[in-house]
Amino acid sequence: MLAIKNVYKLYAGKTILHNMSLSVDRGEIALLLGPSGVGKSTLLRILNNLETIDSGIITVDGKPLDLTKVNTTHTVGMVFQQFNLFEHLTVIQNITLALEKVIHKTHEQALAIAHKLLTHYGLDQKADSFVSRLSGGQKQRLAIARAVALKPTIICMDEPTSALDPLLTTHVANTITELAHEKYIILIASHDTALLDKLNCTIYLLGENGIVQTALSQDFRGNPEKFPLIHSFVSGSIQP
Ligand SMILES: Nc1ncnc2c1ncn2[C@@H]1O[C@H](COP(=O)(O)OP(=O)(O)OP(=O)(O)O)[C@@H](O)[C@H]1O
Ligand SMILES: [Mg+2]
Repeated sequence: MLAIKNVYKLYAGKTILHNMSLSVDRGEIALLLGPSGVGKSTLLRILNNLETIDSGIITVDGKPLDLTKVNTTHTVGMVFQQFNLFEHLTVIQNITLALEKVIHKTHEQALAIAHKLLTHYGLDQKADSFVSRLSGGQKQRLAIARAVALKPTIICMDEPTSALDPLLTTHVANTITELAHEKYIILIASHDTALLDKLNCTIYLLGENGIVQTALSQDFRGNPEKFPLIHSFVSGSIQP
């Protein structure tokens, strides 16, 4: 289980994350919703050691997540909003490079793992294409495959559907559901409310003062009026 307890994050004296506490179990999907600027990406960047925290504690299975140095335990995989793929490398090299450099697989081992993942994500035909030639949906699948290749405990995805059409959004939602069934701990930052309909997840609505409302997506879909702030946010009528 990932447990985030009483986390504060300030930028230039301004509190961005305000006493943030939430926990996410293996196999659970946490969907961080909220307007632009409330700190959704910041929280994911913290989990990936791309940012530090000002106070609070983050543990994975009871052990503190080491936030003082670049993540060397590879417990967290990140799928970035802009994918952060190596555009000048081929699809398969994007995966084998990480396996060889980060977890020291041999080239043959890396190729075998990469081909298996590419087949799973429907990209094996594209193995030798350059990333710059992929569509947005294909890049998204490659970014997910690359994150999964390192066998993290936690997968963070920043706006995974922002560049996708409704059909591809459904595909990505299905992939996320499959990852949950494989018992990853999953955190998604998004303002794509379409994901609410397509995922069984825990919704955390973030506002200026931290988490302002929480709901299981199934409960919210069944009775949106019970969660007025999430309902207003989803229907576009107020900012939390
Ligand atoms: N490195 C930084 N230095 C200073 N301020 C920053 C930095 N990164 C983010 N911020 C500020 O922190 C706040 C939260 O940013 P963040 O990117 O986490 O928001 P978000 O909820 O992901 O928004 P969006 O929905 O637009 O992606 C914003 O006001 C942003 O300007
Ligand atoms: Mg963001």
